[in-house]
Amino acid sequence: MYNSRISGLGFYVPDNVVTNEDLSKLMDTNDAWIQERTGIKERRHVVKGKDTTTIMGVKAAKIAIERAGIDKDDIDFIVFATLSPDYYFPGAGVLVQRDLDIKTVGALDVRNQCSGFVYAISIADQYIKSGMYKNILVIGSELHSGGLDFTTRGRGVSVIFGDGAGAAILTREEDPKKGILSTHLHSEGQYAEELSLLAPGIGHRWVSDILKDNDPDDVSYYPYMNGQLVFKNAVVRFSEVIMEGLKKNKLDVKDIDMLIPHQANLRISQFIQRKFGLSDDQVYNNIMNYGNTTAASIPIALTEAWEKDRIKEGDLVVLAAFGSGFTWGSVIMRW
Ligand code: ACO
Repeated sequence: MYNSRISGLGFYVPDNVVTNEDLSKLMDTNDAWIQERTGIKERRHVVKGKDTTTIMGVKAAKIAIERAGIDKDDIDFIVFATLSPDYYFPGAGVLVQRDLDIKTVGALDVRNQCSGFVYAISIADQYIKSGMYKNILVIGSELHSGGLDFTTRGRGVSVIFGDGAGAAILTREEDPKKGILSTHLHSEGQYAEELSLLAPGIGHRWVSDILKDNDPDDVSYYPYMNGQLVFKNAVVRFSEVIMEGLKKNKLDVKDIDMLIPHQANLRISQFIQRKFGLSDDQVYNNIMNYGNTTAASIPIALTEAWEKDRIKEGDLVVLAAFGSGFTWGSVIMRW
């Protein structure tokens, strides 16, 4: 049995910076409300037609591949996590295989929203641990701006999310004490609709119904979020799943060198930091600059933290996520 470790990281965000002030020109909101409730100062939005979820994912992947020191054809498998794919189907994984001109390896799409990257890493880790694959490209990428309601009706959601992508190469590691030590995944489907985008799902309404209704006030194409319920559940589940991972490895909160929480909301991250008594050096947050980029938030934050030398060899790095589903999870790794 092998271990897996992250051998390369990369991220890409569009150049187009959208400030809270910019949003206040589109809807009834203001910088003070957004910063106080979420910590967000600005986010990036794609320029329509220039970037897509796949294109951003490919840009991040190219950096990760180069930093891993491998050739694109050394990649044995692709895992792509997103809630905002270019197409309803096929998924973005095959588009990456095409756009990177990689040989015909398998490509898997993960639909676990904010927990998507943690789920994707867990899957890739299992394939490597079993010996099936040696190098796996894991991508989290989101284009939110094309799917949000930027009128006052949608302000509770649309101010929170931003666009971007992050990628990691997971590589076989022979040393069992190095790399990913364990991953932990959970879900609670009773809250499925509390953070959701219902259309264009075909379960309850058929395409023919949607076309017949042709309703300009149909909000089922916009994300819905029960913000307070999400907040309450997030703080509990983040804590639980971090502790679950630490206990599994006979580690303690004080052993954490770097916690990268999914960048849902700065207040959630700060709550966890306070609860665990972690210093600012032990937690990395960048939601202030990018907003919540869902499946991309952890790989973007992880890459930035690594680029800033905030993560060193031998460090205990913890990834934790919570989001739509509800789903949540953690990754415990020794860098
Ligand atoms: N600007 C100004 N006012 C606003 C805005 C806005 N952008 N959005 C909502 N409001 C108003 C509401 O209409 C409401 O007004 P009312 O009192 O007159 O009815 C008031 O502000 C308070 O609204 P609440 O929704 O109660 O505000 P709350 O304090 O709960 O904050 C928030 C909302 C920030 C969404 C919070 O609930 C939260 O952070 N929840 C967690 C969300 C989260 O982390 N989601 C991401 C994780 S999941 C994922 O990534 C897919």
